Formats: sequence, C-alpha cells, structure tokens
Amino acid sequence: MMQKRVRRIAVSTGGGDCPGLNPVIRAVVKTAILEYGWEVVGIEDGFDGLLGYEGARVLPLTMAEVRGILPRGGTILGTCSRSNPFAMNVTIGGKTQVVDRSQEALDRLARLGVDVLVTIGGDGSMHIAKDLQALGVQLVGVPKTIDNDLQATDLTFGFDTALQTATEAIDKLHTTAESHHRVMVVEVMGRTVGWIALEAGIAGGSDVILIPEIPYDVDILCQKIAERNRSGSRFSIVVVAEGAMEVAGQPHYVGVGSGGSLRLGGIGEQVAEQIAATGISATRATILGHLQRGGAPTAFDRLLGTRFGTAAVHLIARGGMGRMVALRGNEIVDVPIEDAIAGLKSVPSDGELVQAARGLGISFGN
Ligand code: F6P
Repeated sequence: MMQKRVRRIAVSTGGGDCPGLNPVIRAVVKTAILEYGWEVVGIEDGFDGLLGYEGARVLPLTMAEVRGILPRGGTILGTCSRSNPFAMNVTIGGKTQVVDRSQEALDRLARLGVDVLVTIGGDGSMHIAKDLQALGVQLVGVPKTIDNDLQATDLTFGFDTALQTATEAIDKLHTTAESHHRVMVVEVMGRTVGWIALEAGIAGGSDVILIPEIPYDVDILCQKIAERNRSGSRFSIVVVAEGAMEVAGQPHYVGVGSGGSLRLGGIGEQVAEQIAATGISATRATILGHLQRGGAPTAFDRLLGTRFGTAAVHLIARGGMGRMVALRGNEIVDVPIEDAIAGLKSVPSDGELVQAARGLGISFGN
C-alpha cells in the first residue's frame, strides 16, 4: 500500500505503566516536530481514551507538553490495562457485553486526521496493533514491559528500573535476614517469565531463585536452606517470581484482574509457609508488587526509551508500517510486529545466566 504524506501522528500508551514511557513520548514528539515538522497528538488512557463515550480523549503534544517529563515514571497520557478495541466491555441496559469496536477506532483515528499511530505497549498491545494494521491502520510499535517477555527485542525499557528496585529490596532484606537468622522470601513480578527474579536474584546475592521456567521441589529447596544453616550461614534469601510453581503444580493466582484475566500472586507467601512448616528457620515473605513499576526510570531506561522513540519516528518517515522498533545487541533495529508476539520470551532453563547462578551455588529448587 502506498503511504500517504504524513502530517499528523498520534501516540498512545497501552497495558500496565512502566518507567521509560515518558522518555519515549518526549522523543517521539521532539523528533517528529524538530526533524519532520509533523503535528503530534496524544491519546489518553490507551484505547479507552480513543473510544471514549463522549468522543476520543486526545491532547495536542507540543514541545511545551513534554518539557520536564524525561525523569518521570508512569505515562503523562495515562494508560489502561487490557483495553482492546476488538473486545471492549460495554454496558447496555445494565448488562455488560463484550463488543468489537475496532471499526469505530479506525473511524475516530481518521476523524482526528491521524496519519500514523505510534503504539507503545507490551504483548497485549502488539497483538492489537497487528489486528488493527490488518484493518488498514498505519502504525508502528514501541515495545515496553518490566517483564522483558517480548520476543524480537533483546530488552524492553522498564525492565532495568524494575531490576534495580528488586535488587535494592533484596539488599535491604539481607540485613534483617542476617540479624534475625531468618529466611526472607521476596516475591517479584514478571508474569509467566522469570527474568526479574533471575537477574535481581543474582545481582542481589540471593541463595535460592524460583522461576516459572524451572518448577521447584519443596524438599530440595528446604535442603538448600538446611545446608546453609549447617555451614554457619544462618539466614537465606529466596527470590520467587510471581509465576513460579512447584513440580507438577499450577501457578498461584490472587483473583481476577481488569478484563477478566487471572492475576498472579501469592506464591511468595506459600513458599514462606512451606519453609516455615519444616521448622528449619523463622521465615518472612515480602511482596514487592507495583513498587517495581514505579519511580523514575534508570539512566539505561531513559536512554533506551529515547532511542526507541526517535527510531519509531524515523521508521514512520521510511514508511515502515506494521513494524516495531527493537534492540539487537547495542543496535536499534525494526522488526515485523508479528515477530514480537510469536510466543513469549522465557528464561532458557539451561542458559548462560542460569548456569552462572548455579555456578555460584544458587539453588533453583530442582
Ligand atoms: O506486565 C507487567 C505486570 O506488572 C506484571 O509483572 C504483573 O503480573 C502485572 O503487570 C500486574 O498487572 P496489574 O497492574 O493489572 O495488577
């Protein structure tokens, strides 16, 4: 399809917030204005804002709007988890129904005079982007998630900040673990992959790391703690990914989240109870939760977000519709959006990082 001349682009942030979104928005706005003279509008609250009942909620994004946002966490545009134009919850006559409003999304973008949409999001947002593109929406993707579970990019922004937060928490838990001779269990985010747990576990000098990719055996986990006690190290740090599970077990859920999907959580408390039940050590659990998504982005995430935002604008100028910017090694490249959603990027269970951890004596409970 011939690309028409670009005059106005829109930016939207979808899915969970994450540190680094504002640097992307800022870079898109500045590059679009300064290098190409395009207009930029921001869509508020992801597809919820585009499909707002009283019309699309958009705001002009000028240089003034993005001033000072580089170090700010979250997104100035607002976001909405699991809002999908192909399956929107609509309440009609007191009854909630799931309705396909994708055609309306197209009409609204056309009415707003948007030539190209920059969609910043994770796995869910990239699935929606691919389907919208199939309907004729001109768009490019920018990958974000603290979980680092998107294929086709070595890293997503947000991950480094979450890793830093989790590592600092492990450092702090060490002092109480050591003073009280306790086992401190810390549950971290990551959905169904163990990147945050694995990397924070190694960086924070933990003794046990439990990740979804390597189901654990509670006896082996407790043996490791007992061995440490016998050797004179009368405390242990256990890092548990929220999606971790026992051998032949199931992930642990705490309830139903927005959009009806199950919310992971509670495995940290379960592991602490399992260890305490053996009587080997007093045990406490800490759930880091949304602290990992908050706060100022690290320098690395500011830089990656900025590079992605700038590259997304250049990608539009080259006519690279339906593609996503990505990091390969230390280079910014672009890939078809389909490649990013061809399955999740899990931790290789015998990969270099897991082997390095095992070499340090860290147990995976298997
Ligand atoms: O995908 C990011 C993430 O923070 C996951 O690590 C976590 O499982 C989920 O989002 C939590 O989502 P919510 O903010 O909707 O509870």
